[in-house]
Amino acid sequence: MREIRKVAIIGGCGHVGIPLGLALADRGFIVTLLDINKEAVNKLNSGKLPFIEEGAENLLQKYSGKNLFAVTDPAILKEQHCVIFVTGTPVDEHLNAKVHAVLDVVKEYLPFLSEDQLIILRSTLYPGTVRIVENMLLRHDFKCKLAFCPERILQGKGIKEIFELPQLISGCTKEAEKEAASIFEKVAKKTILLTPEEAELAKLMTNSWRYLEFAIANQFYMIAEDHGVDFYKVYNAMTDDYPRAKHFPRPGLAAGPCLFKDTMQLASYHDNKFFLGHSAMLVNEGLPNLLVEQLAKKMGGSLKNRKIAILGMTFKANNDDTRESLSFKIKKLLEQKMAYILPSDPYLKDTLPLEEALKEAEGIIIGTPHDEYKSLSLHVPFADCWGIIHTEQ
Ligand SMILES: NC(=O)c1ccc[n+]([C@@H]2O[C@H](COP(=O)([O-])OP(=O)(O)OC[C@H]3O[C@@H](n4cnc5c(N)ncnc54)[C@H](O)[C@@H]3O)[C@@H](O)[C@H]2O)c1
Repeated sequence: MREIRKVAIIGGCGHVGIPLGLALADRGFIVTLLDINKEAVNKLNSGKLPFIEEGAENLLQKYSGKNLFAVTDPAILKEQHCVIFVTGTPVDEHLNAKVHAVLDVVKEYLPFLSEDQLIILRSTLYPGTVRIVENMLLRHDFKCKLAFCPERILQGKGIKEIFELPQLISGCTKEAEKEAASIFEKVAKKTILLTPEEAELAKLMTNSWRYLEFAIANQFYMIAEDHGVDFYKVYNAMTDDYPRAKHFPRPGLAAGPCLFKDTMQLASYHDNKFFLGHSAMLVNEGLPNLLVEQLAKKMGGSLKNRKIAILGMTFKANNDDTRESLSFKIKKLLEQKMAYILPSDPYLKDTLPLEEALKEAEGIIIGTPHDEYKSLSLHVPFADCWGIIHTEQ
């Protein structure tokens, strides 16, 4: 088997592309991050990250300009041994996967690829997409080695996880599988071989499982709240030294670009008969409404013309990523209640500073459990499903 040294990542300056590119550079590959986002490309080439990614800065300083390059010009693709696609895979307005988004991006780069290359799809895919891409390539009389190796890192913790998690490997042919495995064996703790169909489902089911876990925590929170019971006393009792509930997640806004989307992809794949997935969506998407109602109740019923701060606008703690953040749903709900909204987030420049938001606010909703909020003493009514504020109200 030939040695693969040069790897290009299409969509390389995104949240999956950067950790992967840095990990491959760290293992000695010559890595090109190809992206249409010029700003991100320029930032990376000047040694800066376009977003927060724990542990990435050191690696970027070490490899940028040596064996890691960011580019916008696809001409460089011809020289590569392997090309990895990590562009986004959205769902449409009916919550069905946009399989075409994957096909279109592969077609777009087809004139720059060559048949001796290994092509790896790494985005999360609707089941069956790998074979659809394979078929599309064959229709173009393009016989390359095609593999699917889904990413499973946690947003923001990618650098740590990419080296620690097992990597799922699948290929349309044994040769593709072998070559893909030879790359990831140098990066991941171990590799697990699957068929493309198994790998597609393994990735979607992993994310759906996580979404369902959050939903059950959120549903229990809603039950306790409805009955006037202190949920966190129940939660602590359930999880304290009790092995079978040890991994029970805390309630919280289950947002971000992956979990909701992937659960809906699985539902659509199963002809909308993934009842637990849809129920999870109803619960998780209903939590912002509950928080707004909780606050309204504490403030006498109406939020009209009241100043309400949302603390935390990003979709996860200690991160600057706002994609699909449910804090924006809270904002919309507050707008419908005719409140004055004071969005604040230490990770976002265009929001109010914390002190100002606290000074102005008549009521507060915790949108994201950033560390900065954990020592706050709040003296106005608040809604906090995360259980991070301990002050007496
Ligand atoms: N973010 C995560 O932690 C995570 C984890 C596992 C899997 N995934 C999956 O990985 C995929 C990518 O997610 P992401 O979070 O990295 O998205 P992202 O939006 O952060 O990155 C996608 C990148 O692709 C670039 N891009 C878009 N169209 C392009 C094109 N035609 N040519 C070149 N570049 C193009 C964008 O500019 C962007 O930099 C999705 O399928 C997602 O579900 C994400």
